[in-house]
Amino acid sequence: MLDAIPNNVNLDSDKRLQRALMQWQPDFLNWWREVGPEGFQQDRIYLRTAIGVGEGGWAHYDYVKMPDYRWGIFLGKPRKEEAIYFGDNIGGAFWDQVPGEFRKELRRLIVTQGDTEPASVEAQRLLGQSAPSLIDLRNLFQVNVEEARHLWAMVYLLHSYFGANGREEADEMLERRSGHPDRPRILQAFNKPIDDWLAFFCFTMFTDRDGKYQLASLAESSFDPLARTTSFMLQEEAFHLSVGERGVARTIRRTAQLMEQGTPPESVGAIPLPVIQKYINEWCSASYDLFGGEDSSNAANYFAAGLKGRFKESDGKLNPDHRALEGAYTAEVFEDGRWQTREIPLRRAMNACLLDAYVEDCNRGLNRWNGILDSHHLTERLSLPSTRFNRRVGIFADRPYDIAGNPMEPAELESKRAEWMPSQADYELVRASMVPVYEPGKMANWIAPPDKGVGGKPVDSEYVLFH
Ligand SMILES: [Fe+2]
Ligand SMILES: [Fe+2]
Repeated sequence: MLDAIPNNVNLDSDKRLQRALMQWQPDFLNWWREVGPEGFQQDRIYLRTAIGVGEGGWAHYDYVKMPDYRWGIFLGKPRKEEAIYFGDNIGGAFWDQVPGEFRKELRRLIVTQGDTEPASVEAQRLLGQSAPSLIDLRNLFQVNVEEARHLWAMVYLLHSYFGANGREEADEMLERRSGHPDRPRILQAFNKPIDDWLAFFCFTMFTDRDGKYQLASLAESSFDPLARTTSFMLQEEAFHLSVGERGVARTIRRTAQLMEQGTPPESVGAIPLPVIQKYINEWCSASYDLFGGEDSSNAANYFAAGLKGRFKESDGKLNPDHRALEGAYTAEVFEDGRWQTREIPLRRAMNACLLDAYVEDCNRGLNRWNGILDSHHLTERLSLPSTRFNRRVGIFADRPYDIAGNPMEPAELESKRAEWMPSQADYELVRASMVPVYEPGKMANWIAPPDKGVGGKPVDSEYVLFH
């Protein structure tokens, strides 16, 4: 069975890893059957499968049944740097094994990342039943099988480098469940239900994008197998983010077309712009928390030890000072009735630096969305919530801030909530729009068609062959 696992980690010659994976694989498949996509398991889906790391080898398109997808284990190409390039150990050799003194931290980082992968599959399991088109259905399943492969990627590290503890952690990855009251997934945003396609697109735009930034910072790690595993994952992650950004863009385009012609979107089963804005507020702010506290001793330790770098740490222009022992990150916090400046020593502020890079990235997507409104001659504009808004983690969690980041009284919060966050009525309106459309080339009425197809096929192809 194991020769069915495409890999470039010498699985053939590693008997110990083979044995571990042989035990884990049936449990993984049970997990997939139990909480993977509901239905469609016997249908043939036009999927991209990674079959190698060479040029184009990681992106091979074919019709496959999801349970037959070849979940593989891949390391990205060797890095061009030859030695550790940030933190306290600059100049030392990259680690091929886990150093004893960082075992606990590395395990924690890998488990936390790994846990998010199956969580998103679980949260998205019912969406196939309300897919707005065949190409969207196919994209959903592409994301799902790749998140499951990312679980494989992290489990590979746990099995290979963390002994009995690693095997235990790998088993527990299949036991926790997104949103479960007793054994939830580790990070809160990954326990949020994803009940409709606008939520799915916002999740892949905003929450998966946190994943991109976490993976990018791990791709700088001095622990070489982790760096190369995550750098390969980033290639797949890029597709998920494009599903999100383009999905929201197509939703906006449809709404804008209707607004331009004077038709209220909700009157024809499309989604009003203010509701789209509230979904953006909800998912974007929940994703801010995933970066962790702005002032964090854990973050400082990870950086000092060389476990986790900044975004593009190796880029000397972006990050000229790889020790980060000097300088500070400043943040304005409202405390004791006035704004106060917090100076956070740079190493302790690594989460805040990563969040800033993330917000910049989100803003590029937002500008493209606003360009769509502009092209339909509308003056309305969408925005991102302030990084102070709706926080449960970090220096802004102690008191409420409004959507623009101004302090507000806790008593005002409830009355303002419906202005900024989706209400029950908003969710119901969106859900009522979510009628499944499974005819090639046809779209549900709330979403515009994509401008191009996938894997060399036109938009109106039969991306799913129903059995
Ligand atoms: Fe992932
Ligand atoms: Fe993803």
